Amino acid sequence: MNATIVIYGSSTGTCEALAEKIASKLDCEAVNVQDLTADIISNNQNLILGTSTWGAGELQDDWYDGLKTLQSADLSGKTIALFGCGDCSTYSDTFVGGMGELYHGIQNSGARFIGSVETGGYTFDDSEAVVDGKFIGLPLDDINEDDKTDARIETWLAEISPEL
Ligand SMILES: Cc1cc2nc3c(=O)[nH]c(=O)nc-3n(C[C@H](O)[C@H](O)[C@H](O)COP(=O)(O)O)c2cc1C
Repeated sequence: MNATIVIYGSSTGTCEALAEKIASKLDCEAVNVQDLTADIISNNQNLILGTSTWGAGELQDDWYDGLKTLQSADLSGKTIALFGCGDCSTYSDTFVGGMGELYHGIQNSGARFIGSVETGGYTFDDSEAVVDGKFIGLPLDDINEDDKTDARIETWLAEISPEL
């Protein structure tokens, strides 16, 4: 595996805990997006980016500065996988929209995106994170479906690990 880092934004700790879980399975570090620097980006070939969703389908607050840092960096040739934390019941119209906002902010950066996920395993009405009929990354709903989280992460990591 090439140098890999998990970068997360989390307001109440859910996305943080899931980022730590993913990082521990990949045997790499997880950093809060508040601590993101240009050096962290340039030192890692693989970026696993996680955001929870707030407002109505919006990025977790700390990601707004983090996104600027990403946009200022050279992401060409990097491999990026996204995951998003949300609530498919209360926010069914904007489920994991923050993950979509993150993707749209860097989609033309020259990075290669991996880890899209079929929508079939989820119950929701709409999401900005659906691109060409699939989630652009891994949606996790620890509010309503925490019993599915571990299996979702395992399946996703098995799929993306060979690409890292
Ligand atoms: C005010 C508020 C707005 C939210 N908006 C959305 C939303 O639009 N879409 C979604 O999927 N989840 C939404 N959520 C759910 C959060 O994303 C979810 O609770 C998440 O696990 C929080 O993660 P964090 O503690 O890491 O920030 C919202 C939660 C709150 C309290």
